[in-house]
Amino acid sequence: MIGHPDGRGVAASERPAIAVIGGGIIGLAIGWRLAAAGCRVDVFDAGRAGQGATRAAAGMLAADAEAEPGEQALLPLNRLSRSLWPAFAAELEAASGLTVDLRWDGTVQIALSADDTARLRHHHAFARSLGLEQHWLTGAEALRREPHLRPGLGGALFSPGDGQVDNRKVAAALVVALRRAGGRLHEDRAVEEVVVERGRATGVRVAGTLHRADRVVLAAGAWSRRIPGIPPEALPPVRPVKGQMLALRMDPAAPLLRGVVWTPTAYLVPRADGRLIVGATVEERGFDDRLTAGGVYALLDGVWRALPGVEDLPIDEMWTGLRPGSRDDAPVLGPCPVDGLVLATGHHRNGILLAPVTADAVAGFVLTGDLDAAARPFTLDRFRECAA
Ligand code: GLY
Repeated sequence: MIGHPDGRGVAASERPAIAVIGGGIIGLAIGWRLAAAGCRVDVFDAGRAGQGATRAAAGMLAADAEAEPGEQALLPLNRLSRSLWPAFAAELEAASGLTVDLRWDGTVQIALSADDTARLRHHHAFARSLGLEQHWLTGAEALRREPHLRPGLGGALFSPGDGQVDNRKVAAALVVALRRAGGRLHEDRAVEEVVVERGRATGVRVAGTLHRADRVVLAAGAWSRRIPGIPPEALPPVRPVKGQMLALRMDPAAPLLRGVVWTPTAYLVPRADGRLIVGATVEERGFDDRLTAGGVYALLDGVWRALPGVEDLPIDEMWTGLRPGSRDDAPVLGPCPVDGLVLATGHHRNGILLAPVTADAVAGFVLTGDLDAAARPFTLDRFRECAA
């Protein structure tokens, strides 16, 4: 407990000071929650807020469609956070005055070949074993939902509970909400060092100046191990996992897709303004964030095989992002061996989806010293237990 959780009537100098490293969706959402709770919040970003993995993402809230064998432990957290999104979005829109385009159209995963159909049926059995709500669609039923898909589909799997949000709009809204709640955002301000004194994080050094803080939150995504000053035992096992993406421009009055579609090799996310986001490669290339011919070719081939009408669409944008992948693809949340240093990183493919639950759990931990039960399986400890 660091006191004054609501901050009202408390002199600024007495309010808990929080330094957040990283102005992506995770750092901004935590900063907003803590500023709204009365803390003195400073969010530091090495570049512009929301311009890293947050900007690169597609904004899918696809807890069911993205459920993968080996990630069962993550599923309850993903589903909990998905259930928090409606209230989170409403609160954020009210706090910022900006919209974030939250939509619940579900996800359709399609099979193009006989092999794809067998794989998708296997995935359906796996999803059913987890109690997920997914419905098998015949090719004809899938085409009724999405008439521009290639005829002759082997079948499709529909996850009605999934949705999407415009991640770039979320970032813009969080910046406004953070500031309106009294938080300060420092852009182009790389943290040069987390200052640790007698085993406790006491602040961050930025542009040669020490900013003292009662708590330091590490939310630097793929860069989380690159912040100097953090002792090795407190470093989360997070690495960059590159994704190449592109966007095509559809006619918003006659879009080729209504909802999110996963082809066997790409996902397609239509926005209300006519952008069709196509993602994404998954590559282990360190911090190399260049677009490649092979990556872009794979995306274009993936979308064209499923949606031949894209052939004439203009390319609107191409980009890359670096997902913060952890050793088990799940986030790293809460305490670490350095007192006062709180982790909120490693969200890998689920940073947008997991923002609401991460913000609540990490802000709650900072304010009370208790980590919510839903987040407890995701502390740094789990890696130490594996190694032991
Ligand atoms: N969640 C989608 C991606 O990571 O590409």
